[in-house]
Amino acid sequence: MKKIFLLLLMILTISGCGGESQDKTPAESEKKSVEKMPAPTSSADKKILVIYFSRTGEEYNVGRITKGNTAIVAEYIAQKTGADIFEVKPATPYPDEYEACTELAKKELESNVRPALARNIDKLAQYDTIFLGYPIWWGAVPRVMMTFLESNDFSGKTIIPFCTHGGSGLAGTEREIKDICPNAEILAGLAISGRTAQNDSATVQKEVDAWLTELGY
Ligand SMILES: Cc1cc2nc3c(=O)[nH]c(=O)nc-3n(C[C@H](O)[C@H](O)[C@H](O)COP(=O)(O)O)c2cc1C
Repeated sequence: MKKIFLLLLMILTISGCGGESQDKTPAESEKKSVEKMPAPTSSADKKILVIYFSRTGEEYNVGRITKGNTAIVAEYIAQKTGADIFEVKPATPYPDEYEACTELAKKELESNVRPALARNIDKLAQYDTIFLGYPIWWGAVPRVMMTFLESNDFSGKTIIPFCTHGGSGLAGTEREIKDICPNAEILAGLAISGRTAQNDSATVQKEVDAWLTELGY
């Protein structure tokens, strides 16, 4: 009798030895294993910078402007994503008059020059994701932005282009950026008409919001 009692006691003890996890509901043990996992990285964890070039003065389809079309879009993207912002400026400002500017820009493109920068950025290394904004000039990225891209190391970064334009859209400029920053990942860009950027903030916000949502922001 004593032996049977001892045997029963052993069986009960062994079945209770399954340990902690058997005392917990499945939900509780699942919670614990989730807590131990590293936090997933999302776009919210990435350090973001908006870099843009934009011109003021007389501009196609919008008259004389005191804030550039691309600058308007850039500032809204920075506001929505909580990004820092950096403006690319040429050492010598582009002409105020539209015609004079188009002539100079055409020459710059034809000879593929690299206009000098007024200043360069010093803390690019700390950013993972770059929203890169520019106006379309002669179907291309303005040469001063090419100077900026060539003057910095974008290896391992994600570049998300956006442009404003007078009708030509992005005009293949994502390819130009890929060629000059081969070690960066270039995502699909956004094109907004300069006239919309200057005069219709509701549409800018709608288009940028939809694009950012698609990108996961
Ligand atoms: C030098 C120059 C060249 C331009 N070339 C084009 C072009 O090829 N295609 C186009 O759609 N718009 C062209 N535009 C219009 C600009 O892309 C458009 O107005 C843009 O919104 C200007 O942006 P910003 O105010 O930020 O400089 C050109 C404008 C300038 C000044």
